[in-house]
Amino acid sequence: MGNINAIITGIGGYVPDYILNNEELSRMVDTSDEWITARVGIKERRILTEEGLGTSYMARKAAKQLIQKTGVDPDSIDALIVTTTTPDYKFPSTASIVLGKLGLKNAFAFDFEAACCGFLYSLDVAASMIQSGRYKKIIVIGADKMSSLVDYTDRQTCVLFGDGAGAVLVEATTEEGVGVQNAYFRTDGKGLPFLHMKAGGSVCPPSRFTVDHRLHYLYQEGRTVFRYAVTNMGDDVMEVLRRNNLTADDVQWVVPHEANLRIIEAVTKRAGIPMEKVVVNIERYGNTSAATIPLALWDVESKLKKGDNVIFTAFGAGFVHGASYYKWAYDGDSLSSKK
Ligand code: ACO
Repeated sequence: MGNINAIITGIGGYVPDYILNNEELSRMVDTSDEWITARVGIKERRILTEEGLGTSYMARKAAKQLIQKTGVDPDSIDALIVTTTTPDYKFPSTASIVLGKLGLKNAFAFDFEAACCGFLYSLDVAASMIQSGRYKKIIVIGADKMSSLVDYTDRQTCVLFGDGAGAVLVEATTEEGVGVQNAYFRTDGKGLPFLHMKAGGSVCPPSRFTVDHRLHYLYQEGRTVFRYAVTNMGDDVMEVLRRNNLTADDVQWVVPHEANLRIIEAVTKRAGIPMEKVVVNIERYGNTSAATIPLALWDVESKLKKGDNVIFTAFGAGFVHGASYYKWAYDGDSLSSKK
């Protein structure tokens, strides 16, 4: 028997209906459409406003669309991974809630937390599980309700984030040369002071004090994070190209984490990859953390061609960062539906 390769065979996505645009934000904090557009590249973001709905709701919607689109038998799914920084609850896992709602009978589920690198890392984990030969079909969902941890009185962070979910089906194939090829991932552990939530974890559990002092919001020193993001993502892309003997000309698509258009432009410029090859949707969704890359794939799926070389790259709290090389396995709409 030949090697087992792991390929994405379909993509589903979900964004909430409510659109929070720059004009509305300008009425909430001292900011402007001009500043946000020029400094970050975002025009609007989606917000899950309905009370009582969390990340699992969006994750389930994305996975449902994925299952319908691909026509995959839910009973054939072996595992479901939800990668998120905004789980419904501390426990149980959001993945277990999603699995229950989807009615998957033969799967196990777990959450995977790696901030904005969550999708990149968990796609690799899913691929390794498939390549082990023990699992054949895994759903990987990147989902975040960033509005649940954003302080809408802090103009430095509230303009950046949005809510959404993207889901991919990862399947085993014996076809050569397609799917997850290689990855260069690193975590440097220097990020804590610059990007974190101060309370709510085991170091500083929730209390009246933490609520009164507004410690349950995302805290970010944007300028420092920006510098690290550009340097690390740029280096990671170059390294993954070098390790796979690829030049910028060999790359058809770069699908980056969407945190700031200026970061994306600086990273791809450094690698010599023109912006026509870069998937950008930050103007419509903002930074949806673990969901940005699968949502970008969802947007561009119809344009992807079998054999296209795709480079993923991301950076996030930790600091976590990396890039991976993926060879696309089908033309246009999902592969499973064509089987
Ligand atoms: N509207 C108007 N002015 C603003 C706003 C705003 N929304 N926010 C900040 N400013 C002001 C600042 O107060 C500052 O004013 P000053 O010069 O008078 O002090 C000025 O704009 C410049 O501020 P900077 O912080 O230097 O702005 P910068 O160009 O760095 O942009 C930003 C800020 C967008 C946050 C940028 O630093 C960034 O994108 N950082 C990285 C974000 C990121 O990648 N995060 C990682 C992933 S997130 C995750 O893992 C969960």
